[in-house]
Amino acid sequence: MEIQMWREILEPYSLAVDELKEKFEHMRSAYRAAGLYSPIEQVDVRVKSISSLLEKVQRKHISLDDIETHIDDIAGVRIICQFIEDIYKVAQIIKKRTDMQVVEEQDYVKDQKPSGYRSYHMVIKYRVESLKGPKDIFCEIQIRTLAMNFWATIEHSLQYKYKQNMPENLRVRLLKAAEAIVVLDREMSLVRGEIMDAQNTFTLKSNLVADILTNIQNLYKVANKREIVKIQDEFFKIYNSEDLAHLELFAKELDIISEGYRAQSLK
Ligand code: GTP
Ligand code: MG
Repeated sequence: MEIQMWREILEPYSLAVDELKEKFEHMRSAYRAAGLYSPIEQVDVRVKSISSLLEKVQRKHISLDDIETHIDDIAGVRIICQFIEDIYKVAQIIKKRTDMQVVEEQDYVKDQKPSGYRSYHMVIKYRVESLKGPKDIFCEIQIRTLAMNFWATIEHSLQYKYKQNMPENLRVRLLKAAEAIVVLDREMSLVRGEIMDAQNTFTLKSNLVADILTNIQNLYKVANKREIVKIQDEFFKIYNSEDLAHLELFAKELDIISEGYRAQSLK
């Protein structure tokens, strides 16, 4: 690699992380639009900065010409989940995709690192299309829970502050905190069903409300005002009653009314 060309060299990696962010976020909204619980909570991406790239090249004694084949985390994606179970679900989803090829996997959730670090790591091969044609690049995907991410973020800043010389008492503290995270994730898994139910209900309700409001808005253009006001009052009454089944029924009835108008307008 010619160092003055680093911007151009990193360009396909930047394209890759943009595309991957879009794909994983789209997955999350697709789950939610279908009224389902999403195993993906948040997606963060980054391209390694030139300074950390140079630091890694030196630390690992890699020639600058070999960075694209020897460094597999120039492109990085971090997928944050709510529960441990979701991590494995996301890993399965990635393995089944035809646009990502898993070339390496490390389960640091099961085999915690000596520091206390936990995450599920994957390296994928991903193809981007650039002006120069197709290019296969490596990308590191880290999948972890919100709690694991909290720990790793704090620990990373301390590592950065102390470099190789983390004081022993701090190291022990962090290990203890890592143990607490294990317990926290386990406790949260026990209430996962309850939380998923609550979130499903929330998504279902907000999808229904959005559908109903779109229908009412469209009816404004065609129906008689008195009828609309009646529909609107009825909607508020059901909405305030917190009765989801009733709201579902109302949405269906409204669909039928709207269909009627649509059919009329086609005549
Ligand atoms: P590097 O990529 O140079 O770190 O070597 P490696 O490939 O052997 O490391 P590994 O695949 O285990 O980890 C890669 C990434 O995981 C790092 O760049 C960090 O983002 C994260 N990571 C690994 N270990 C730790 C840790 O102890 N603490 C924190 N906060 N992050 C870690
Ligand atoms: Mg690695």
